[in-house]
Order: sequence, then C-alpha cells, then structure tokens
Amino acid sequence: MIKVTFISRDGKKTIVEGNHGETLLDLAQKNNISEIEGACEGCLACSTCHVVVDNSWYDKLPVACDDENDMLDLASGLTGTSRLGCQIILTPELDGLVVWIPADVNNLLLT
Ligand code: FES
Repeated sequence: MIKVTFISRDGKKTIVEGNHGETLLDLAQKNNISEIEGACEGCLACSTCHVVVDNSWYDKLPVACDDENDMLDLASGLTGTSRLGCQIILTPELDGLVVWIPADVNNLLLT
C-alpha cells in the first residue's frame, strides 16, 4: 500500500492508503476528500483535481505532459509545484507523498 497525506485548506491532515496504479484523484474520491472534485473524471478537460505537491515530493513525480500543463494554466491558485491529481499515478516510490489542497480551487462541490 502507498500512503498519501492530503492537507486540507484549513490544515487538517488526512492520511490514506492507495494501490499501485491508482490515481491520486481516485484515491481522494474513494476517501471522500471532497475538496478535490475531478469534474471531467481524469480526461484532462478541467482543473478541478488541482493539488499542490509538497516541495519535498515534487521532483519525484514524472514530468507533466503538455496537456496537463495547459489545464494547470487554468487552475486557480497555481503554484510552482501544482499538478493535476488525475495525472499522478501512485507507485511505490511515492509512498509517503504529501499534497495540499490549493487555497483557491475551481470546485462546484464547494460553492
Ligand atoms: Fe479533470 Fe483531472 S479531473 S483534469
């Protein structure tokens, strides 16, 4: 199992475990982390799965593709370590990953 810590906008930590090959978005939805919406269900057609990867983990992720970067450009609260949760595939190397929910998100579930 691959352990991931989600840190909410109010600083609350939620530690969950996922399987190799599962996306970070799937993991969030499975564990009712509602601050990550995932409106297009991983089709790279929204930015509602935007997360901010902890600095210590960002370089361990594969580089974002052009389509992901294009959608990230539309995300609210973009940072230098922003990624789309639907594009982060859990691998054993990511055991311990820490991601933050952006302070400003495009999420219909929260409005
Ligand atoms: Fe839409 Fe990730 S869920 S881009």
